[in-house]
Amino acid sequence: MAEVVDVLTRLECRRPLIVTDAFLMSQGLPQRLQVQIEAREMVCGIFHETVPDPTTEAIERGVRAFVENKHDSLVSLGGGSPIDTAKAIGMLVANGGRARDYKVPNAPAKAGPKHIAIPTTAGTGSEVTRFTVVTDSETQEKMLIAGATLLPSAAVVDYELTLTMPARLTADTGTDSLTHAIEAYVSRKANGFSDVFALAAMKTIWRELPTAFVEPGNLRAREAMMLAATQAGLAFSNASVALVHGMSRPLGAHFHIPHGLSNAMLLPAVTAFSVVGAPGRYAECARAMGVADVKDSDEAANTKLVEGLYRRNEELQVPTPKAYGIDEAHYHSLIPTMAAQALASGSPQNNPRVPSAEEIAELYRQVWAGR
Ligand SMILES: [Fe+2]
Repeated sequence: MAEVVDVLTRLECRRPLIVTDAFLMSQGLPQRLQVQIEAREMVCGIFHETVPDPTTEAIERGVRAFVENKHDSLVSLGGGSPIDTAKAIGMLVANGGRARDYKVPNAPAKAGPKHIAIPTTAGTGSEVTRFTVVTDSETQEKMLIAGATLLPSAAVVDYELTLTMPARLTADTGTDSLTHAIEAYVSRKANGFSDVFALAAMKTIWRELPTAFVEPGNLRAREAMMLAATQAGLAFSNASVALVHGMSRPLGAHFHIPHGLSNAMLLPAVTAFSVVGAPGRYAECARAMGVADVKDSDEAANTKLVEGLYRRNEELQVPTPKAYGIDEAHYHSLIPTMAAQALASGSPQNNPRVPSAEEIAELYRQVWAGR
């Protein structure tokens, strides 16, 4: 964190706007960063109206704050929501229009102002990705926006910022990172560059997440998780995510389940569905994570992988949508809409087994009460 001002100076920023949320404001972290920045004769504002699952409404307020106070750069501080909000603010400042104009398969052409991303969770990996996920305030759709111009100019990754994360957030954001690594590795867009980061990340996360969950002050586990979250971000930014994320976004949009938690609810069942599409690749995941060993056949490794994911959910106390308290009739009535939205996001098309709308609907039904 002590290096943030040097990074701003190197990028020739003069009037940064810190983008953060109310929780971090109550902890005083953005204010401390502001003092640090203003001590170097820069003008620094704070926008703290970021909401979980960033909405177009909150983003438009951020755009006004940026323009009215003549800021020239963005410093996002927080979990995925402030970082994604800052990306969307920068995108709209540079390109005009509305967020929905740029959702996949469209893309914003012009790069926004300089953006330094500082994650406080381990994590979405958003500090190193070319994606932002924005909820349309009018339609409630959780839109995926992708483009090289969304990549932050710099990321400041400091695991000490994660030491105060509560256990639930640690589990959910950590499982999000694990999902990024696995989906990047089995994605149809996987490549030699993304594979290296994906394998390294899943190995670390599988080993360290239970420790970080029960021992929040374990520095080794926290540092390892932070590095792995960023590695997983590099992996999926270069290979894309797949069916779990495609199905997770509608669950988040309609039922306000935290992103990592809805991923966790889906990951075992979606993996069981998908392994036939890339048995060798999933088996490599199982071996990298240590749930299977080199002597296991691909088939045996994949059985162990699915079993391991179910067990891990129990260990991390992941509820089913039913146990989470969602209304059963409401859930089932939305399945056709959610299946259509999942398909439209493009992510299921990266899956090793590309599902039909009906197969996605069946998976939503399957995860409702767990196995
Ligand atoms: Fe994610």
